[in-house]
Amino acid sequence: MDYQELAIPPSLRLSLPRESDTGELFALVQQEKARLSRHLSWPVLINDAKDTLANIRQNRADFADGRSAVYVVRWDDALAGIVSYNTINDKQAEIGYWLAAAYEGKGVMSRAVTALMEWYEAAGKLDTFIIRCGVANRSSNRLAQRLGFVFDYCQVRAEKIGDHYVDHNVYCRQYVNGSRG
Ligand SMILES: CC(C)(COP(=O)(O)OP(=O)(O)OC[C@H]1O[C@@H](n2cnc3c(N)ncnc32)[C@H](O)[C@@H]1OP(=O)(O)O)[C@@H](O)C(=O)NCCC(=O)NCCS
Repeated sequence: MDYQELAIPPSLRLSLPRESDTGELFALVQQEKARLSRHLSWPVLINDAKDTLANIRQNRADFADGRSAVYVVRWDDALAGIVSYNTINDKQAEIGYWLAAAYEGKGVMSRAVTALMEWYEAAGKLDTFIIRCGVANRSSNRLAQRLGFVFDYCQVRAEKIGDHYVDHNVYCRQYVNGSRG
């Protein structure tokens, strides 16, 4: 298995970003920039399609090196957002995600994160998953809790977003011998 693409019928598909995704991905980030910037630090840095292309190239290089794994989320073939292993260390990975507003509130990201974890866990590639999110990021905290992640600790002043620091809730989900620990 090359871990480049996963289809979950009937609607969900996760794919490694391709250079040909640049225009569509750049346009979606511009469209969602104000909303995403409430909880993410990077959207303000994406101001030209060249920035998106550089990210896609970096994502593909990091995937090839086993450092991270970023996937485009498509719902009924339309680009809906991104789900990723932002870091991979041994069998532990930190998960990141964002969705366009049109796809929020439908369970799309819960399904994408579940599919991503099961994909790598079934093959024994990963067994420990971390989600870190701003304490005020209601949707992201609820997603972690919905998927059975256990609150681990709160990291004070974990990330600077715009002109202020946010504290992170750090959640963990662990598989031991094929079942959740
Ligand atoms: C975080 C984010 C991806 C969550 O999106 P989401 O759509 O709320 O997440 P889910 O896919 O888990 O969907 C859950 C919602 O869909 C509803 N839903 C409908 N059908 C569902 C189903 N089959 N399964 C699960 N939830 C379903 C749930 O009730 C829930 O809505 P609620 O929170 O109003 O109760 C999104 O808010 C986002 O992109 N935010 C901005 C970027 C960001 O904050 N990223 C995370 C940084 S840590």
